[in-house]
Amino acid sequence: EGSKLWGGRFVGDNDPIMEKFNASIAYDQRMWDADIRGSKAYVKALEKAKLVTTDEMTQILQGLDQIFEEWSKNVFVIKPGDEDIHTANERRLKELIGTPAGKLHTGRSRNDQVVTDMRLWLRDAISTLTDNALQLIYTLVHKNTHLLLLVFLFPCSLVEPTLSHAVALSRDVDRLQEIKKRVSVLPLGSGAIAGTPFDIDREQLRKDLEFDGISLNSMDATGQRDFVAEFLFWASLCLTHLSKMAEDLMLYSTKEFSFITLSDAYSTGSSLMPQKKNADSLELIRSKAGRVFGRCAGFMMTLKGLPSTYNKDLQEDKEAMFDCYDTVHAVLQVATGVMSTLEIKQSAMTAALSPDMLATDLAYYLVRKGMPFREAHGISGKAVFAAESKNIALNQLTVADLSAVSPLFESDVSSVWDYRSSVEQYSAPGGTAQRSVAAQVEHLRTWQKKH
Ligand code: ARG
Repeated sequence: EGSKLWGGRFVGDNDPIMEKFNASIAYDQRMWDADIRGSKAYVKALEKAKLVTTDEMTQILQGLDQIFEEWSKNVFVIKPGDEDIHTANERRLKELIGTPAGKLHTGRSRNDQVVTDMRLWLRDAISTLTDNALQLIYTLVHKNTHLLLLVFLFPCSLVEPTLSHAVALSRDVDRLQEIKKRVSVLPLGSGAIAGTPFDIDREQLRKDLEFDGISLNSMDATGQRDFVAEFLFWASLCLTHLSKMAEDLMLYSTKEFSFITLSDAYSTGSSLMPQKKNADSLELIRSKAGRVFGRCAGFMMTLKGLPSTYNKDLQEDKEAMFDCYDTVHAVLQVATGVMSTLEIKQSAMTAALSPDMLATDLAYYLVRKGMPFREAHGISGKAVFAAESKNIALNQLTVADLSAVSPLFESDVSSVWDYRSSVEQYSAPGGTAQRSVAAQVEHLRTWQKKH
């Protein structure tokens, strides 16, 4: 018998290149905690099924506790034959307690073990990401950005775009909770393919490991990774949202706009141009969507056309899952830091206001006097053209100039040239008026309290 846990039917050793190619210990060791939790629950189920004695169970539990200690103190020694976290922990258990260690894997396969570990790990990871995302939403909603009703672009206030990112993120949080329900399903007791012939109390395992339910079908439980794919897609979508936010902020932070200034804590310099302050935090946030979606697309390709039941192809699930987790975890924290420390340059925003932004309002003026919107749009366009021809601003057109375009224009047209009332007219739910924005903020606050 070779040194491998599965070595019985083998005479020759693995080629060293194959051994390295096959091993996942380099990255799956981060599930050491989940692996031990799963084994501790499983040995209790074995004892209940009378497959190990109470004394053997105690020895195994003590051994597992010691392994837990070694991992948490960072002194666990990975040995050359340790293929993955499951074999490493079992190898160590045998060294610590001898023969009874050989009973732990009764009726269990790494196929149900690995996917149990992953689900335990991902469940915790999802809790962390939920907290990270809530933190960012809190920052977006509560940063005084929403108190500033500054007008620019459409025109709308800075608060609207900032809030819009918070709203998208709140859906990401909701989506993640949906995924968590499907992650929280216990596969243990599914064996390699067919379930278990022993009296393993899966419902008890579920309770011990705090899963919401148990898997319905053993082949599905061991051979499917849609819960991973879902998580990878979630990460892609969430970072796509954040790339949009990063792009907005980056534009506003350029010298040309100067609407915001990033804190030094989230900027870097140029090695050549001494004056530069680079928005590297935002550029990296923007970039990570590509990385994470690559993981998602790559793993979907791995899954496509796989036959039923466990295939080693599925070992690819872990690096994708860990990398997406690490990336989103970092991005959410950096984005929170960027948002909470950036400075808003009110004067630059005010300076960027220009009367042509009010051309839509000019059309609405005519609509309020009874003109069909299509026609009003055309008339307002003609006014814009007239101002451009005279090389003056739209609000510098006289009433005479305007009434040449349409007789509906009268002296009260001057009321159109007011940015604040322009913003305030969007008072329907979802709009830019102060009241509407306050309602949106209130809605997000209430939503947040539920999490
Ligand atoms: N390290 C493997 C994985 O990550 C564990 C499962 C091994 N099962 C097998 N049939 N080779 O997927």
